[in-house]
Formats: sequence, structure tokens, C-alpha cells
Amino acid sequence: MGEYQAVLERSRRDPSGFWLEAAEAISWHRPPTTALDAERAPFYGWFPDGELNTSYNALDRHVEAGRGGLAALVYDSPVTGSSRTYTYADLRDEVARCAGALAGLGVVKGDRVVIYMPMVPEAVIAMLACARLGAVHSVVFGGFAPKELAIRIDDSEPKIVVTASCGIEPHRLVEYKPIIDEALRTTRHQPHSVVVLQREQSRAQLTPRDRDWLELMAAAEPADPVPVASCDPLYILYTSGTTGQPKGVVRDNGGHAVALAWSMRHVYDIRAGDVWWAASDIGWVVGHSYIVYAPLLVGATTVLYEGKPVGTPDAGAFWRVIAEHRVEALFTAPTALRVIKREDPYGELLAGHDLSRFTTLFVAGERLDPETLRWANDLLDVPVLDHWWQTETGWAIAANLRGIEPMPVKAGSATVPVPGFDVHIVDEGGEPVPTGTEGAIVIRLPLPPGALLTLWNDDERYIDSYLSTYPGSYITGDSGYLDEDGYLFVMGRMDDVINVAGHRLSTGAMEEVLAAHHAVAECAVIGVPDSLKGQVPRGLVVLKAGVRIEEGVLRDELVASVRREIGPVAAFRDVAVVEALPKTRSGKILRRTMRGIAAGNDEALPATIDDPSALDAVAAVLRATP
Ligand code: COA
Ligand code: AMP
Repeated sequence: MGEYQAVLERSRRDPSGFWLEAAEAISWHRPPTTALDAERAPFYGWFPDGELNTSYNALDRHVEAGRGGLAALVYDSPVTGSSRTYTYADLRDEVARCAGALAGLGVVKGDRVVIYMPMVPEAVIAMLACARLGAVHSVVFGGFAPKELAIRIDDSEPKIVVTASCGIEPHRLVEYKPIIDEALRTTRHQPHSVVVLQREQSRAQLTPRDRDWLELMAAAEPADPVPVASCDPLYILYTSGTTGQPKGVVRDNGGHAVALAWSMRHVYDIRAGDVWWAASDIGWVVGHSYIVYAPLLVGATTVLYEGKPVGTPDAGAFWRVIAEHRVEALFTAPTALRVIKREDPYGELLAGHDLSRFTTLFVAGERLDPETLRWANDLLDVPVLDHWWQTETGWAIAANLRGIEPMPVKAGSATVPVPGFDVHIVDEGGEPVPTGTEGAIVIRLPLPPGALLTLWNDDERYIDSYLSTYPGSYITGDSGYLDEDGYLFVMGRMDDVINVAGHRLSTGAMEEVLAAHHAVAECAVIGVPDSLKGQVPRGLVVLKAGVRIEEGVLRDELVASVRREIGPVAAFRDVAVVEALPKTRSGKILRRTMRGIAAGNDEALPATIDDPSALDAVAAVLRATP
């Protein structure tokens, strides 16, 4: 670990020098002279006296450097049968015009813009246009229902909402406009306008508040980048916490640009001119960081894929995209590999695709299980590298740093802490645990550039959620251990967050939906292992005394409510009626014990259990295959 160790030590010995040097990869309107701003600790800021524009860094400067003709974004859309390439000059022009259109609608620095769009280039253009104006975008994933969208609109209070008439799922069209309209019928906050990109697959009915994307763009004057302070917010991205109220992660401009540029070079070994593909969705952090910002910040070509790993049209889709666009590295979720493996276990659909340019497969979103690692390794004959991170951190906390020193892969490990992240494993009292012992994974403050600044409108929740459990450290919510070689093994969440097909969801939010049903007295939702999706939610409900309802009817109603209230992405399909939920004597539901039983573990009877027979009965339900 020579080279890695040297970089790690340098980052620890002289963090200011380390990050100021990294900041040289960015073009600043006013270069920073200070790295860390600790004046308001634990609210840290990076490069406090620096000024920049993120959109300028992602686009204009490459054009000015003579690389305007290089492909910036390749849109590949099997669901519409189309593909389109934008050079850096094209994308800069489109973004400048979109920024002009938004400015024409009154958007100025600091205003929020909610973007609720499928995987189309216009979504990326809208994000970068906000960044150009110093406005703050908040992208909402298309699989969320109107209520989830409404929560985000009320919290971020956008001046404008940008949407498209429809998204295209393999077996159905998702009409976005009715979802927006329904959300806006319930929100306290009302945006001035809704900008709608009309797609030919289904055109939306426009109301007086709606504006047509194409008409606006045609009439707009291009807008120049607006310099912003490094610590000014670039975006808000809502993520699931333990309750129904999502957390609005706030990302800055300067720290974000510096961290992402550094990560492209050192974590992924991707430089200007390389072709890079993150097969995620712009609604998730992976999409923000690695479909949009990071590849463009370093002048690489990014692939925007509107399709699925299977079914669009088949399990060879990923290999086609890699071959056709000469992709050098792919970033996806293990669940995507598992669905490909299920449909094409022997990789027959790889035949005929030239993957000679393809060097590395990166995965994240959930732990890469050893079986999937082996399968992908054998099939593709390239390094398959797990790395671990979260919406909050914005980039990898632990990784196999390809651009510093490739390390041997250990199955089940995300490899080593990334320089900048001071990772520790602690017990319940916050004391360090011995090597090899599992505990809570925490990161000593300050977090490096690129990590969240706070939660939107809620500094107190930021402290309560992340910083108060172990003062001086950020709690990741994951448990894991470090082995004798310093490799990190992330074992799973310690809270009520679950990961379904690479999508982060809150079981607490699902419980709120179940609890609102007239027949339900109390309930619990836990994540149970699933061979394809990693985890799926499973509900347990106790009926109110005297209520009579057929279990099948109740199940259908509850499944429909979760789909309606949270969205199809929750993949909530499984709920059972039980006599009672196991609890401690103080009334706390034993979710962790239930999770362990559902995972097939031998769970010790908690000393504080109130009624062991309730646990026995629930265990029988959990062990029965749904
Ligand atoms: N807009 C609207 N609906 C969406 C959606 C979107 N953007 N994304 C998913 N949905 C819907 C799906 O259509 C499905 O609806 P259905 O119940 O009517 O069938 C539901 O949400 C569940 O979707 P999903 O969990 O994605 O399951 P799936 O069976 O459709 O696909 C995978 C499974 C594994 C192919 C897919 O989840 C996937 O590609 N996951 C990778 C996720 C990822 O990249 N995460 C980022 C970390 S790297
Ligand atoms: P998200 O905020 O949606 O990126 O989800 C972050 C959570 O997903 C983490 O806290 C982990 O629980 C899980 N996760 C992401 N990547 C990995 C990984 N490589 N290994 C294990 N868990 C992961």
C-alpha cells in the first residue's frame, strides 16, 4: 500500500495543503486562499473565500481550452429507439439558453428549481442551467408518487418546476404532468411556473401556469455563468431517513467541484477524453455526481442511458452500450448485475460486442455480494470494484483507488478509506473496537470537501441525525469492520433505512402509510433479504380490536396505499397480519431482532423483551416464505 499510504498520510498531515492543491484542478473566478472554514464548526465549509461557477467548470472552460468538439454527453435511449451526442460546445450552448429561459422566468441566484424528469438530456441541461445561474436545483426521482414530490416542493419552495410530459418504463408510460398537478393541488408552496418538455410518446395538457420547454428555449437569450461563493448551495437532494420526512442534503459549489474532480482522477482513473458511463438515474446521488457533474468537470464523455439492464430489449443492453460508445469504465449497482445474470447466466448476449476498450466495472449502492463479484469477473475479465458511499457524502468513503494504487480485491470489502475520510469503527459508547470487530462506522469531523453542508432548512436535524450520537464524528448509519490490512467491510444499515434494487428507502415512511389504514392498530416494516433486489420491504400489521377484514383485501389495500403515497419504487408487495409485535418492556418494537430473524440469523432473545411469545409468532411468519 505504498502509494495509497503516502497520499493518505499527506491528506492527514496537511489537509489544507492537500485540498488547496486539489482545488487547482478547478477554474476559480476568485481562487481560494483558505481550505477549511471551521469558524462555525460543526458546520464546516470548504474554500470559504473562493468564487466559481460549477456550470462554467463543467462546460465553458473545456470549450475555451479548444475541446468544444469533444463529445460531452451521449444520450442512449433504447426505450425511444434514439441516441444523440452533444459536444461540449453543443451542451454549453443548450445550457446557456436554458439558463436564459429560466432567468426569463425570474430565476436568480439562490432560487430553488425542482426538476422531476426522466433520463433525457434536457434534465441534465436543466441541472447545469440552474448551476449557471447560481440557482439551487432539487431533482426528484421519477419513481416517487405525488405525495413524495409534494413534500419536497413544500420543503425546498421552488420558484419553478421543470418536468417532461412522460417517462418510459419498459411496460408502461409514466405521465409526469398529472403527478405534478396532483402534487401541486396539495402543496402549501406554489411555484410561479411549470416548464414542460413535451415528448412525442405522450403530450401533456398544459394549463396557464405551464410553459412549453421548446418555446421557451427558442425565445431565450443565452445566459452567462454567475460567479457564486464556494460555500453557496449548488443543489438539494432529498434522501430517505428514518421518518416519512426526507432529509434535504445540501451540497456546496466549491467543495463539490474539487472533490468530484479529484475522485475522477484518483478513485476512477478517468481523465479528459475518456468515455465513462454511470448507469444510474439523475434522481439519485450517483446520477448527480457521476452522470452529470464529475465526468463533465474533468472533460470526459458521459453516457446518459434511458433504459434498464434487462428488458430494453434484453440482458445484453449494457454490453451493447459499452461497445457502441467505447465505454472505458461503467458504474452500476450490484442489483443490475444480478438481474442480467438471472436472464443471461452464461453471458451469451455478450457475444459480438467489442469490449476491448472496457477496463473497469465499479459498483456501489449496496454491498457487492461475492457471488455476483465472481460472476462479473469471470464474464468480463476486468477488475470489478465495490466502493461505498452515501447521498450525504456525495462521493466514495471507501474504494479501491484506481488512480493512486490499484489494490487486490477482497470479496465483501469496499477496500480502503478514501483520503479525506477519517473512518473509525466504534461501539455503542463511541469507543474504538478492536480490528476485525463489527461496530458503527463513523467519520471524524471535518468531512472532506464534497460532503453535505447541512440539511436544507434544518441545521438542528443535521446535528441530531448525524453528529450528536458520537460528538466529533459523523455517524454513517452503517455498521462494519476494518480488517488487519485496513480493508473496510460494510455490513448493513443500523437504522430503518433499506436498500431496494439500489434505491434507498425509509421503512419508517412505509410504516406511516400502513398506520393510516383504518384497520391497522400498529405495524412494523423491515427490510428482508432478496436475491435480486438485495432487500425488499416486508410489513407486519396488528389489527384494531373488533375490526374484520379479509387478509387478502387488507393486503391489496396496503400495497396500493404504499404505491400511491410513496411510489412504485418502494416495491412494497408483502404484508402479513400478526397477533402482536414483539416489543421491549418499554414498548419499543424489536425491529432489529426481527430483521435478523428474517435474514436467517440465530437471534438471541433480548433481555428486555416483554412477551417472548409475540416474538415466536412473528418469527414463524418471517421464516415462512412469503
Ligand atoms: N419512473 C417511474 N417509475 C419507475 C422509475 C422511474 N424513474 N424507476 C422505477 N420505476 C418503477 C418501475 O417501473 C417499477 O414499477 P412496477 O411496480 O409498475 O413494475 C417499480 O418502480 C419498481 O422498480 P425497480 O425497483 O427499479 O424494479 P424493476 O424490476 O423495474 O427493475 C432493476 C429492477 C434492478 C433493473 C432496477 O431497479 C435497476 O436498474 N436498479 C439499479 C438502480 C441504480 O442504478 N441505483 C443507483 C445506485 S448505483
Ligand atoms: P444512498 O444514499 O442512496 O447512496 O445509499 C447509501 C447507503 O447504501 C449506504 O449508507 C449503505 O447502507 C448502502 N451502500 C451504498 N454503497 C454500498 C456498498 N458499496 N456496500 C455496502 N453498502 C452500500
